[in-house]
Amino acid sequence: MASNNGSREQWSGKFGFILASIGSAVGLGSIWRFPYVTGENGGGAFVMIYVICVLLLGLPVLLSEIVLGRSTQRNPVGALRKQAPNTPWFMGGFIGIIASIIILSFYSTVGGWTLYYTWEAIANGFHQLSINGIEAKFGSFISNPATTVIWQALFMLLTMGVCIFGLQNGIERTNKFLMPLLGLMLIILVIRAVTLPGSGEGIRFILYPDWSSVSITTIFEALGMAFFSLSVGAGTMITYGSFLSKKESVPSAIGNIVLFSTLVSLAAGLAIFPAVFSLGYEPNAGPALVFITLPSVFAQMPIGSLSAVLFFFLLSMAALTSSISLLEVPLRYLEDEHQLNRKTGTILTGGLIFLLGIPSTLSFNILSDTKGLFGLTIFDSLDFLASNVLLPLGGLIVILFAGWKWGMNQVLREARGEDGKGLPAQPFWVFIVRWVTPLLILTVFAFQILSS
Ligand code: PFF
Repeated sequence: MASNNGSREQWSGKFGFILASIGSAVGLGSIWRFPYVTGENGGGAFVMIYVICVLLLGLPVLLSEIVLGRSTQRNPVGALRKQAPNTPWFMGGFIGIIASIIILSFYSTVGGWTLYYTWEAIANGFHQLSINGIEAKFGSFISNPATTVIWQALFMLLTMGVCIFGLQNGIERTNKFLMPLLGLMLIILVIRAVTLPGSGEGIRFILYPDWSSVSITTIFEALGMAFFSLSVGAGTMITYGSFLSKKESVPSAIGNIVLFSTLVSLAAGLAIFPAVFSLGYEPNAGPALVFITLPSVFAQMPIGSLSAVLFFFLLSMAALTSSISLLEVPLRYLEDEHQLNRKTGTILTGGLIFLLGIPSTLSFNILSDTKGLFGLTIFDSLDFLASNVLLPLGGLIVILFAGWKWGMNQVLREARGEDGKGLPAQPFWVFIVRWVTPLLILTVFAFQILSS
């Protein structure tokens, strides 16, 4: 399995790597899913549990993935193979590749919706519509098989269009342009939402913990969300880490990635709930929160049309910077291990993932009665399989590898950069990586098996 390491591209520097990783983490998970799951699970209490899960689960896996990628400069399969030759550990890499393919297939369904909403917000706006009108508009859009597949195709084409230009010219440049813009748009939206009359209740909703609505499932929701929203378990961070020069130190990069992606999720909540409460809507609208409730909020807000354009553009671009990281995983595997050139790889992999994603898109219309796992629709089955099984499994393998096979001394040594700066509070993290994170993941699995 020769690797064409000689010509392998790298990030132009640590900043490019950090922005791209935040771009991968911040996506539909943080801006679409996090607010509605928070809304369904009692607000502030869920937020607190989520932050704890990010620290105890997401961060250690993120550290292990990035260090593994950086030290080997390989894709997930190649990285595990290099560190543990002639052992089955490399299977963990394949799980990551499969997870990233599956996630991208259904991610592009919702990615297509966000593009359509951006277009609608620009072309027609939502201002003349009541909530019933918006619900009807959303309903007639997602029930149309041809239109939804076309928007999904557009989203995939955009993703492929970025990846085809390679690491620095495609992925890094796109993130360097979009991430600061995203931050700016989000700040404008938060200011707009928190200054609406009656917004206090919404702010209180996400910051004040109401423990009475917390159940054991809330905790498992938060665990799954921590994986999905930090993009760990799918090999993305091994792949992105593999382009990081050995000069750079990993701990400070990780601190920035975790801090900023968590802040964006919170800011998305702060941009949405104060406005929702201020206009008298319910916070627990579920997946429709962003596609139905929010446009109604915009329709009634001063400068609402502009806010709607900004919000949906932000959402679609956040989705794009995540989807390119997902496509990069199989692409880099094919390039490293099978010497496939980038152009052919992008077209083949992107095309295949698009085809795979069509049933998910159609599960909101003509395939809505076709059931997959546990009586769920195709979309929900794939989401369940990837988010609740493959990501935690991929994460578990990597964390066990880091803590027990490769060894924490090696991980901590590899995390250092030229400046020699290591991870602070090392004994604490050693304990977390070896015991706490794997046991927590295993508990989630056990709970899932027992409750299914
Ligand atoms: N973190 C992305 C989001 O929150 O939307 C989704 C994601 C990207 C999950 C990359 C997993 C991954 F490997």
